[in-house]
Amino acid sequence: MHWPGKVPGLAYGGDYNPEQWSQATREQDLELMGEAGVNLVSVAIFSWAMLEPREGEYDWSWLDETMDRLADRGVFAALATATASPPPWLTHKHPEILPETADGVTLWPGARQAYSVSSPVFRSYALRMTRSIAERYADHPALALWHVDNELGCHNSHDFSDDAAEAFRRWLESRYHTVEELNRAWGTAFWSQRYSSFEEVLPPRKAPMFVNPTQQLDFHRYSSDELLEYFREMKRILREITPQIPVTTNFMCTTRSKNMDYFSWASDMDVVATDHYTIADDPMRHIELAFSADLTRGVAGGEPWMLMEHSTSAVNWQQRNHTKDSAEMLRDSLSHVARGADAVMFFQWRQSHAGAEKYHSAMVPHAGTDSDVWDSTVKLGHALQKLAPVQGSTVRTQVALLFDYESWWGAELDSHPNNDLSYPEEVMHWYRALWEIGVAVDVVHPSHDLSSYDALIVPCLYLVSDEHAAGIAAAAQSGASVLVSYFSGIVDENEHVRLGGYPGAFRDLLGIRTEEFWILQQDQAWGLDDGSTATFWTEKTRLADEGSGAAEAVLKYVDGPLQGLPAVTRHEVGNGSAWYAGTRLDEEATRTLIRQVMAEADVSPEHEDLPEGVEAVRRHKGAGDAKETFLFLLNHNAEGVTIRTSGMELLSGTFVSDAFDIAAGGIAVLHKR
Ligand code: GLA
Repeated sequence: MHWPGKVPGLAYGGDYNPEQWSQATREQDLELMGEAGVNLVSVAIFSWAMLEPREGEYDWSWLDETMDRLADRGVFAALATATASPPPWLTHKHPEILPETADGVTLWPGARQAYSVSSPVFRSYALRMTRSIAERYADHPALALWHVDNELGCHNSHDFSDDAAEAFRRWLESRYHTVEELNRAWGTAFWSQRYSSFEEVLPPRKAPMFVNPTQQLDFHRYSSDELLEYFREMKRILREITPQIPVTTNFMCTTRSKNMDYFSWASDMDVVATDHYTIADDPMRHIELAFSADLTRGVAGGEPWMLMEHSTSAVNWQQRNHTKDSAEMLRDSLSHVARGADAVMFFQWRQSHAGAEKYHSAMVPHAGTDSDVWDSTVKLGHALQKLAPVQGSTVRTQVALLFDYESWWGAELDSHPNNDLSYPEEVMHWYRALWEIGVAVDVVHPSHDLSSYDALIVPCLYLVSDEHAAGIAAAAQSGASVLVSYFSGIVDENEHVRLGGYPGAFRDLLGIRTEEFWILQQDQAWGLDDGSTATFWTEKTRLADEGSGAAEAVLKYVDGPLQGLPAVTRHEVGNGSAWYAGTRLDEEATRTLIRQVMAEADVSPEHEDLPEGVEAVRRHKGAGDAKETFLFLLNHNAEGVTIRTSGMELLSGTFVSDAFDIAAGGIAVLHKR
């Protein structure tokens, strides 16, 4: 059962909430969808209270009408299970389904997603709603995809209620089997935490001091698994009733969504879908977008995926929301396509005039069709039609960056050496350097087959299993250049330190041994022997004495307490090498180091001689004589650029034999056979 199923070409559309509008507006919607080339809309996401206004009483009239109209116009529906927000009659009758925070505060209805996923009562109602909607529309010609709930865990991923405590205990029992094993894993010999039965265990509720770190880590794991279990229950019902319809839910694969381990969720999806919003005060937001898209592709195992939501212009939920111009909206959309998206969807089709999201942009803005936003919506729809041949193609890279939600959870636990450390910031530090030198990267989980990559970037892989550490070492042995950054390989799966000197899991690979971390204060910086600076984090590291095979110091500290000791090292390993960055290098030094590693690994940028600020990503299709490539060039500069290239430029329909001019903020897509 796989996407794209019924939808032809690249999918285009957004969340469609006709229940908020009059008949006349709904009629106009379909006309406008035709004009913009919309072929897929997500329907009924927050519609439970409208579809089941009183317990057991259903009103399908508006949804029947919507589905029929969509089918008449050839627009398909990603139909939701309508369960993303329980109706007031349900929370009124069963307040025990509400989630609780770590401080014991109940999250009340009045917004959305006020449910505890562990509540058996909530689940039975949600599954009943899912069954009802599936039975109603099973054979509807507009139905193309099931959209389970919405952004599972967006607001309620960590629930500390009594139902959650019970579910957490069951999860722990299936992980550890005996309470002795739980005691060992959680290191409960510390602070009188020894348990004599699973019944005594609680979620990591607010406590007088730091809560047991492995308890916190396991609660992250459990919370992700618990939501996935809920998805699976819904999917089982949908599969039973509509075996022919693919099922997905919208992930949040970004640098801000920490709570779900999407690598562990992906295989349950018939197609991976994600939502992405840029952050107004991030001047490098297009690079964060690129990373998030690459992460989504990694989660999708390299297969094409769906951008289920992004915004045409401003959102409403940041402090000062950023209005996009038409060029930025187009670049955002096509940067996702360049990185593997086969669907470009928005929140939402028509901008609401009431409710908490009325200042969130949409495809049809408050201003109506006499507006730049509407023009951009139409322009993008037409661009996607021209890009239809891209559908099904994939991105191929020589470099992998390892990303791991468990390391994210572990590295950011409290009571650590440097509590300002942010895992996504560490990852982005290296990703940005790769983006800036134009090298395409796969963002993959440490369990991924690493054998085809020429270079591996391993930022802050704090928590690592023996097996994953061995996979990384094997990649170096067989010829890859591996770059590991600080606070990697420190603990095992239970968050127990690997003893004998840091980084325990990678000491042999790197040929070094760190005795202690030396954390820098806000205003401290030490000099390095190439004139660059080290900030944030340093380590008392020595090269292991291995005679001729010893690691070498690439950069050394020239002042501060570690003067003369190595800050960056390189170790020859088998047919490859292992580099270590034991400090945060400034941006220039980071780029220099990345260039050295890429040169050694013989990795070249996607396009030679690219001007600064121009993004190049290639999608590939077929092999041998049937081989096709699509080179996406996105100019993020305020000036036009000329790029030496050739092929059919799909957006303008012109044949390029030698060079192509891309306007300020513009895009070109070169197709070659
Ligand atoms: C999320 C949700 C949408 C909407 C947007 C607003 O992605 O899934 O329902 O609230 O945020 O940006």
